[in-house]
Amino acid sequence: MSDQRLIVDEGVLDINYIPSNLLHREAQLRSLRMIYDFMLSAPYEMSQRAIIVGGVGSGKTALARVFGRGLRDEAKRKRLRVEYVHVNCRELRGSLFMVLRRVVKTLRPEFPERGYAPNELMETLMQLLGEDNGQLLLCLDEVDALIDTEGSDALYQLTRVHESQPDAPRRLSLLLITKDRGVFEKLDRSTVSSLQRNLIEMPEYSAPQLGGIVAARAEAAFRKGAIPLEVVDFIAELASSENGDARCAIDLLWGAGKRAEMEGATQVKPEHVRQVSAGVLSPVKKEGLNHLSLHERLTLLAIARFFKTSTAPHATTGEVEQLYRVACEERGETPRAHTQFWKYLENLKATGIITSKVDSGSQGRTQLITLGKVTSEDLEREVLKGVEQK
Ligand SMILES: Nc1ncnc2c1ncn2[C@@H]1O[C@H](COP(=O)(O)OP(=O)(O)O)[C@@H](O)[C@H]1O
Ligand SMILES: [Mg+2]
Repeated sequence: MSDQRLIVDEGVLDINYIPSNLLHREAQLRSLRMIYDFMLSAPYEMSQRAIIVGGVGSGKTALARVFGRGLRDEAKRKRLRVEYVHVNCRELRGSLFMVLRRVVKTLRPEFPERGYAPNELMETLMQLLGEDNGQLLLCLDEVDALIDTEGSDALYQLTRVHESQPDAPRRLSLLLITKDRGVFEKLDRSTVSSLQRNLIEMPEYSAPQLGGIVAARAEAAFRKGAIPLEVVDFIAELASSENGDARCAIDLLWGAGKRAEMEGATQVKPEHVRQVSAGVLSPVKKEGLNHLSLHERLTLLAIARFFKTSTAPHATTGEVEQLYRVACEERGETPRAHTQFWKYLENLKATGIITSKVDSGSQGRTQLITLGKVTSEDLEREVLKGVEQK
């Protein structure tokens, strides 16, 4: 049994796992280092803010944590007291009180629960930093939640904490994370302008970039050879169609690995990936196949049958057309001409059930068809249901 294990280190596949090496985010990491460099080179002299903006799974949380880890290490080398505390505002229900309590608890784990009053927490925090003669970079992840609940107030307080004593050492800097920069429209103008000077944008990952991220994670988590390269690329392709979401990619990798293990397979196959993606991404579940014509369904049947027997991640149009003819003949239907068959494929693409790309490796215009969001078995069953009704 033990030799059938495909995943050797499941912790690596946890969505909150922080990879030792963050790919394709060198520029963003460099920006952060520049913005907060003063904490190491000119401590206490200023206080900075920056915002990381990007879609779900663009690596915002990972970027901040990797940066925070590096900042702490570097400070230690320089014998400076620099803390990095990362809080998720949504998990803390968008409450400034809960955020501050979490920060204080992190800095002073032994601090009594009742040791502070809500309206004095801000002061308590600054007092603790003073006692340590420390600096704190506070990362407010999913800051949208904080703004939604507290309006301008919370950020106003946090950004102006040093204003009452202009000559005192600067101890608190902020790093905000949001997927929606629109939330800042809810803030008063001066708070916004003090925040938006340092905007770090996280573009969507491309399919090849996601491929690299998945490959690195797979290598750390799986037994050697358990995930063929084409399965890595397949996962990357699916996640890239979900707005380049690395979170989706890691979830697919983990889920497919678990399914393959449960089945006792020696390798992860595209169908294992589909078993997972069908649960989260499937347009078949969402909308059904009712709006499709008989011949579109027969085309889908052909696609389902191809992937049921093949472990290739793609089918060529030729392969599908051949199976389409077989499916027509079984039912005494005349197969439609090639140009019409192409239109069926186009319509099926529009539904999102299949996707396609041009095969760059071959001469001519071979289209490669991908079935990404439903398993071939489910698809065959759904199609047969519909075909029998017609
Ligand atoms: N550039 C990257 N290199 C390696 N892993 C990454 C990278 N970007 C994201 N990840 C991984 O993808 C998952 C989602 O990233 P995360 O930082 O949580 O995204 P976000 O916070 O933007 O929604 C995490 O498990 C993270 O480790
Ligand atoms: Mg995040």
